[in-house]
Amino acid sequence: MRVLGIETSCDETAAAVVEDGYKLLSNAVATSLDLHAQYGGVVPEIAARSHIESITPVIEQALSDAGCTWDDIDAIAVTYGAGLGGSLLIGVMAARTLAITKKKPLYAINHVEGHVYANFLTKTSLKNYVLPAKQPEFPLLALIVSGGHSQLVYFKDHIDYKLLGRTNDDAIGEAFDKVAKLTGLPYPGGPNIAKKALEGDSHACQIPKAKLPGKYDFSFSGPKTAVLRLAQELIGEDSTFPSKDLPARLSEAQKANIAASFQRVAIETVVDKTVMAFEEFKPTSVVIAGGVASSQELRRQLPEALRSKFEIQNSKLEEILLYTDPKLCTDNGAMIATLGCFKMKLNQPTADPYTLSPNPNLSM
Ligand code: KG4
Ligand code: ZN
Repeated sequence: MRVLGIETSCDETAAAVVEDGYKLLSNAVATSLDLHAQYGGVVPEIAARSHIESITPVIEQALSDAGCTWDDIDAIAVTYGAGLGGSLLIGVMAARTLAITKKKPLYAINHVEGHVYANFLTKTSLKNYVLPAKQPEFPLLALIVSGGHSQLVYFKDHIDYKLLGRTNDDAIGEAFDKVAKLTGLPYPGGPNIAKKALEGDSHACQIPKAKLPGKYDFSFSGPKTAVLRLAQELIGEDSTFPSKDLPARLSEAQKANIAASFQRVAIETVVDKTVMAFEEFKPTSVVIAGGVASSQELRRQLPEALRSKFEIQNSKLEEILLYTDPKLCTDNGAMIATLGCFKMKLNQPTADPYTLSPNPNLSM
């Protein structure tokens, strides 16, 4: 069974072919990231226009890299939410048109659920991919951390899951992007903060963690505002000093300390809750998903926290905690195709190619 996955929820136009829910045959991605960098974040109109230009070449590339013609494709899976309305629309309309003209079943995929399925890919002949040795097993605990989402989800089985907690305000990636902007670091914030953090002291700045009523909920808006106040204080100004003028006044050492301290606290916030959920739900596997899952700091802190709290041996930890290639953590079509494969295998309902519409606010 081969599924073509299409993803256009934000600034990546992506398509990929996946076989039987575990084998990655191709993964084509065109990003409009460079066009957004000068604005410090994604501009929805620019993203939508880029999708229109890229969608056909990206789909063609996914098919040709996989060595497939349309006869080899059994179904199409497409992200229909959550995401930017104009961006989602391009992918959904392309998928609907292809499903009708090529006579393929169509699966509508929740983007956030899709992120988790990137971890089910275990084989590929594509170069430069490091995939987990085995698929995750249920019950499965998933920490989904990206520019648009921060949530902790417990999967009893495929399709059968429960949302344990989510962010009450900003997503963790969004907070990285905003702190990067405050300190004059380029977009996207996560990787650039990680780079700058290497020069800094992660305990130099006091950044409080938010306390919330929901046991597994997160908040990143408070820590982000704490960074703003701290930066104003560091340069001897009060809270009326405009944030856009901060980068010019902060020294490189101050920027590095802010980056390192914020990164430590933001990652600790999601690691603490994952460890609590691990204790309560005793999952067989733990996966991390979304753009922030490529964070080296997360990949350092999470195993360390599990090891020290539960005294798990390294070999056992490697079986529980699975990481995929960073290229499959940020938005891609492969994760969408993989979930499409499982939906097909499990005889889940297909979408109507004449009526499927995007749902920008879709939740899990
Ligand atoms: O999953 P994704 O590509 O798009 C969304 O669905 O949001 O995630 C993008 C986010 C951005 O906020 C970016 O700053 C963050 O992922 N990110 C990282 C890293 N790479 C990307 N955050 C921390 N460390 C990284 N290495
Ligand atoms: Zn995403």
